[in-house]
Amino acid sequence: MIGSPRLRRLATFGVAATLALVLGACAREYPNSTFTPHSDYGRAIDFLWNRLLFLGTMVFIFVEAVLLFVVFKYRRRSDDIVPPQTHGNTTLEIAWTLIPAAILVFIAVPTVRTIFQTQAKAPANAVQIEVYGHQWWWEFRYPEYNVVTANEIYIPTGRAVNFTLRTKDVLHSFWMPELSGKRDLISNHTNYIWFTTDSTTKTTVWNGFCTEYCGASHANMRFRVVTVKPDQFASWIQHQQAPAAFNTSAPAATPAQLANYVYPRADVPAYAVPQTPIPNGLTFDDRLQGDVGRGEKLFVGAGTCNGCHTVNGVALAAGIIGPNLTHVGSRIAIGAGLYANDSHHLARWIKNARVMKPGSLMSTLGKGQFDPQTGAKVPGGLDDQQIADIVAYLQALK
Ligand code: CUA
Repeated sequence: MIGSPRLRRLATFGVAATLALVLGACAREYPNSTFTPHSDYGRAIDFLWNRLLFLGTMVFIFVEAVLLFVVFKYRRRSDDIVPPQTHGNTTLEIAWTLIPAAILVFIAVPTVRTIFQTQAKAPANAVQIEVYGHQWWWEFRYPEYNVVTANEIYIPTGRAVNFTLRTKDVLHSFWMPELSGKRDLISNHTNYIWFTTDSTTKTTVWNGFCTEYCGASHANMRFRVVTVKPDQFASWIQHQQAPAAFNTSAPAATPAQLANYVYPRADVPAYAVPQTPIPNGLTFDDRLQGDVGRGEKLFVGAGTCNGCHTVNGVALAAGIIGPNLTHVGSRIAIGAGLYANDSHHLARWIKNARVMKPGSLMSTLGKGQFDPQTGAKVPGGLDDQQIADIVAYLQALK
């Protein structure tokens, strides 16, 4: 039986497939994996997962082994002999009640302990971040520092960060797979989640996601977390508190100057830069040169951008429906992590955000563009040169 060629072939295939799977798992780094936690919270969850996996595997192997043993040992050996029939075994029944009960204790005790640990109040010295879920983007506020940003946060390593979670519309869920667990944003209810990243965590960018289905662009509701050393965090906060470093008469900050405040664009890992392709049929002449000054005038012009967006330091731009754009030029992505933040994508975003992101609240602004939500062409609207000017302005808001 064991020696049959078919079984041997099957066994060889099984071993090869397992090896391929194991090697495949080692082949590259997975940026959105929960198996390499970088915080106390992440490790607590990882410990539970490992224990459950270990105990579950042991139970599986034991049960399958006993099952195979019984099937082969007590099988009917010939047609005219009935195998011995048994019924009831008190020792066995006591054993299969006590052993699972003991295993459950080893699961329940650490689980309950972890629940209390992860639901506890944050330490008093934690960095406070208020999170507001919107369809479909994230608003972040640092109330202690009077900083408001969108879809991108900086957190200091080795220090507790306490997130206060609220939603402006439907349910969302806040998740940074490599850094912590996830927690829901619930209407008319405030949730909290807090964790401390390891002080050895490298200065880099992590992906964050909405993990509660929340409508058409649920999958396009992402954010970025930048972990930095405490002194870099302090300078980032200082930079965020200042109005956007833009002045028509002064040159924009050089990348080297900017690197003192924000994470250098060149160092952003590839997995954190969105690769979403531009939807078919949405064209723009990338050769157009935008003018920052004209762009600012258009931005604050009645009914254009300032009705929804705030730019700190620009009196006429104080809208609160959309993301705060004070330092939008230095962010990694636009559209809540959907597109890379560069002139190429920003121009098409302004031209027709509703084509770029299904269900987007941001109006279709390009002249003659078809608005998929109203089902009609935009009356009036901005021509490509005007869009290029606004793009130049936004890109200058570092
Ligand atoms: Cu927000 Cu899904």
